[in-house]
Amino acid sequence: MTEKAAAQGSVAYDTVEEFWAPDAVDALAEARRHQDPRGFAEEFCVAFGLTGSAVPTASARDALTRYLRALRLRSPRTEVLLSAFNCAAVADAVHAAGLRVRTFDLATTDGSFDPDAIQAAVTDACLALVIPHLFGVPCDLGSLPDRCAQLGVALVEDCSQTVGATLGGRPVGSFGDAAVFSFGYDKPLSLGGGGMLLSRDRAEVAVPEPSEPVADRQLLDALRVFLVRRRALISTAGHASTVAERQRIYAQSAAAPGPRPIGPLRAALGSWQLGRYPAVVRERDERANAVAAAGLVTWPVPADAEPAWLKQKVLVAESADDVAVGLQRHGFRAGPFNWHEPVADDVRRSVARYTALWSRQGLDVPVHQNMPRAAVSSMIEMIRHG
Ligand SMILES: Cc1ncc(COP(=O)(O)O)c(C=O)c1O
Repeated sequence: MTEKAAAQGSVAYDTVEEFWAPDAVDALAEARRHQDPRGFAEEFCVAFGLTGSAVPTASARDALTRYLRALRLRSPRTEVLLSAFNCAAVADAVHAAGLRVRTFDLATTDGSFDPDAIQAAVTDACLALVIPHLFGVPCDLGSLPDRCAQLGVALVEDCSQTVGATLGGRPVGSFGDAAVFSFGYDKPLSLGGGGMLLSRDRAEVAVPEPSEPVADRQLLDALRVFLVRRRALISTAGHASTVAERQRIYAQSAAAPGPRPIGPLRAALGSWQLGRYPAVVRERDERANAVAAAGLVTWPVPADAEPAWLKQKVLVAESADDVAVGLQRHGFRAGPFNWHEPVADDVRRSVARYTALWSRQGLDVPVHQNMPRAAVSSMIEMIRHG
């Protein structure tokens, strides 16, 4: 794939791309290489230096809801503190557990989190604090783990977008009372859907039944159809940039089966990916660093963090939607996908002004392992010069 081909729109790069091809699934399915999902969860923990009780789930939101429901059994507190710059599914998970959302904003225009400000937002009503590690970058935690322990607030790390990164030499997912992981199609390890809860506080979590291998196979086949349709639309400028459009493609493809707990085929695919993941992260990191080194305003990395980049986030001077149209026309699926608007606070009317800035002007850009370096360079030039 040449730079010219990319420039002519004949090649398209999705925002995040999985690193398994359909034939890997075919081979696993044919060889009946099925695996106990709990065994995969344990392997995952060993691979990333994590300890605790690991439960495979249908999604990260499912993992969070299960954990919060377990917490509710032992505490009358009713609120969960979330980043306003966040996936709406996280707020949905809080609501599904019968709890209310309170939000905190990013600290400044640079997109960083301020652990002291987050700490100051914790109240007596707070059951849990969910900290997101976004785009592959660890969030600065400061003394939050200790403070939460003192205040009786459960600290949950949302590792949906970040696996294998470290903060002060310690892996993300090891700092809180619990961590949630996502195996959605655009996540660090893609199983086309699925999640995991890791808890270390003996919370009595309801464990879901794993899917059957045949259901896993259906889901992965449907995902294949969905990805082909979605990627064919990338260069149709602006087309695939809206959430509504994505939902339309998704609903039309057979990929509509609802989220299901990880079953034995997805578990086998997950194990297959674990050994290949470090090399993929090196590729993603190299491309993310190239974007950061090009003088663009990119997602901040705390001083003692080693990221495992998933995608880069670039703050542009104008509307990210406008910049995205040109990039998509040239085959780069960039856009203000994460996220178009701040998560709403159920408790008080708060204005998350820095979140609003990143929602409007923050551009998700691909930095994945399938992008030739020349394509990364031409994407950078397009962002710079419009
Ligand atoms: C930061 C973050 N948290 C949670 C989720 C939800 O993950 P899932 O789709 O597995 O529930 C996502 C993904 O969409 C995410 O980006």
